[in-house]
Parts: sequence; structure tokens; C-alpha cells
Amino acid sequence: MKKIVTILGARPQFVKAAVLSRIISGKKEIEEVIVHTGQHYDVNMSETFFTEMEIPEPKYNLNINGLGHGAMTGQMLEKIEKVLLDEKPDAVIIYGDTNSTIAGALAAKKLDIKVIHVEAGLRSYNMKMPEEINRILTDRISDLLICPTDSALQNLKKEGYKNIDTKVVKTGDIMKDAVEFYGKISAKRSNVIQRLGLKKHAFVLATIHRQENTDNLEKLRSIFEGLEEISKEIQVVLPLHPRTRKILENNRLEYDFTMIDPVGYFDMLELLKNCKMVVTDSGGLQKEAFFNQKHCIIVRDETEWVELVDHGFATITGSNKEKMLSAFDTYSNSITDFNISLYGNKVGQSIYKEIKKIIK
Ligand code: UD1
Repeated sequence: MKKIVTILGARPQFVKAAVLSRIISGKKEIEEVIVHTGQHYDVNMSETFFTEMEIPEPKYNLNINGLGHGAMTGQMLEKIEKVLLDEKPDAVIIYGDTNSTIAGALAAKKLDIKVIHVEAGLRSYNMKMPEEINRILTDRISDLLICPTDSALQNLKKEGYKNIDTKVVKTGDIMKDAVEFYGKISAKRSNVIQRLGLKKHAFVLATIHRQENTDNLEKLRSIFEGLEEISKEIQVVLPLHPRTRKILENNRLEYDFTMIDPVGYFDMLELLKNCKMVVTDSGGLQKEAFFNQKHCIIVRDETEWVELVDHGFATITGSNKEKMLSAFDTYSNSITDFNISLYGNKVGQSIYKEIKKIIK
């Protein structure tokens, strides 16, 4: 039986890997070995996702976290290499753009193991983002590049990928499958709406964690002041990433709206279904807002999911408070038809077929 090693470590990767792991274990044609780098380690950032989404238990947990980028990526590289030497897989699957992604790709490629990158080709064209650096380098050394969108495919074409010995395919976005599958059961599995005493369409859902916002106090303050201003009109609910919590606490920044601990996937889906709109700097949540037919205010200076902005489902405000408020006003009063297919269908199945082809 062919063997693949899946390398993951951060919350958005658990969501994506859950879809493919379910397919792989159902088909019983490929053995999957899961390696958790340990990048995200709090129970509500990691274990909850494995339990709720029924992701198979990782065979290896490398416990690498709480370090700077260099030490984190370096230690991952060293430990993943050891795992790969022991496991001798036919391919390695990596997801997205985190330090776990680039470490996995680099370790595998140098051992001449095929690298499969799910969510390839995304670009923000902002080289100050650690994620952008991770994406570009990961794509360049991958053997199978699985693009979620046309724009991702075009980005790779522009970079000259037709001249590189790499297979590039567009399958759609795997997160769509996750929202569809788990969205059918989330109401039964989550009581977050009752727990927080929320009413349908009477709250805004927000998340803030990007380094470009959290590590720049001026931007962070402006975003939080914007949210506080919005909260005078409608309740704001913000599940707080540990990075953001630490920085708010260290700088004694306090705001008067609902901040809660990070929530699991079922809670997140119920918050998405029931909210009025989303304010976020997350990549994944922008699309999850769209899948749940909600507008999204993107508090970044650019997005990789350009089609959401092109179609008017999302708007980019950066950390500018006035722009946030103006977008909030516009979306509060607009009715939009979200019935357009931007991210494919049965994406996990298409990705599975491509994986089988490359390891045959
Ligand atoms: C990482 C990814 C980012 C992704 C995000 C999703 C990189 C460069 N960035 O950013 O692409 O969008 O995950 O959340 O890989 N921490 C905890 N508990 C946890 C996890 C983290 O306290 O369970 C702390 C860490 O110790 C660190 C901070 O939060 O101090 C940031 O964590 P880190 O993994 O470096 O980056 P993220 O901001 O989560």
C-alpha cells in the first residue's frame, strides 16, 4: 500500500486536513501518517479540532511551539526529516502557508520525496507577511500544486510555472467541503448561540490574529477601536487568538465588547451561520463567511481571495477605523445574492484523485 505523510501544526490546517483524511481513511487505498508539529498546542486551538472533526490521531507530535520563526522552522525541519527517514513515504502533503508548511516541504524535497501542496498559488504580494514567504518557497519546491481558485492558477502562470517540472491543477477550495460536511451537524453539536445569549443576525463575528496587525500597536488599536465603535450599534463577538490576547494584556489594552476564548469548529460554524457579518484578518474566515452568505470586512491591506472582493462579498479596509465603519454601514443595509460558485464542488474527491495519480 502507498503511504503519505501529512504534516500539520496550525488551526487552519486541521480544518483542511480533516476533509482529506476522511476520504483517505474511507477508501482504504493509501496509508496516511499524520505528523503534528505542535505549532498550535492549546486544547482549544488543536485537540478540540481533532476530536470534533474526527481527524485520526497524529502518530508523531513534535511539540515545537512558542519560538521565533527561525528556531521554530529550523527545529521542525530537523524533526520532520527524522520522521520521513523512518516512515519512507511516497509523498508528503502540506497545507496552506504556515511555518509547518514550509518546514514539511523543505524536509521532504531534500529527501527526494514528492511534495503535494494543497492551497497553492495564493499570493498577497506582500513580502512582509511570513505567510507570503512560506507560500512562495513552498510552491517552488512542490511536485503537485493544488490551486483553490483561478486567480491562484494565474499567479503561478505569471511566475513561470509552465517552465518548471511541477504539476499544477485547479480543484476548488477544500474548505468548502469542510463547511458543507460539518455545517450539517454543527447545530446539534454546538450550543454557542445559547451559551452566549446571542440572537440571529444581531451580532458581528470578528477574529484578529495576523502578525501584521498584532505586532503593530497603532494598527491593533485602530482595529479594536473600530470594533468597539461597531459594538455601539450591534454586539461584537470576538474569539481571541492567544497571540492577540497576549499582546492586549501586555499593553493593558481593554475594550468594551464580547471577547471569548478561541472556539472549536462547530461553535465557529454556528457563529458564522447566525451572525450579521464578519470582520477578520484571517484568510479562511473570509471564505467561510461567503459560504455562509455573510459579508466580510477584511482588516488587512490585501487579500489572497480576490474574487470575494471582485464580487462585492468582501471589502478591504486595512486597519483604518473610518473605512471599517463605512463598510459596516454599507453592509448593514445591503442585500446580496451569494448564489454563485467560486470555489468548486466535491473538492476533496478531486484532490484525492490527483494524489493517487502522482504516487501511482
Ligand atoms: C499561524 C500561521 C498563520 C495562520 C495562523 C492561524 C505562521 C507563520 N503563521 O499564525 O499563517 O493563519 O497560524 O492561527 O505559521 N500560541 C498559543 N497557543 C496556541 C498557539 C499559539 O499560546 O495554541 C501562541 C504562540 O506561542 C505564539 C503566538 O500564539 O506566541 C502565535 O503563534 P504562531 O504559531 O507563531 O503563529 P499564529 O499567529 O498562530
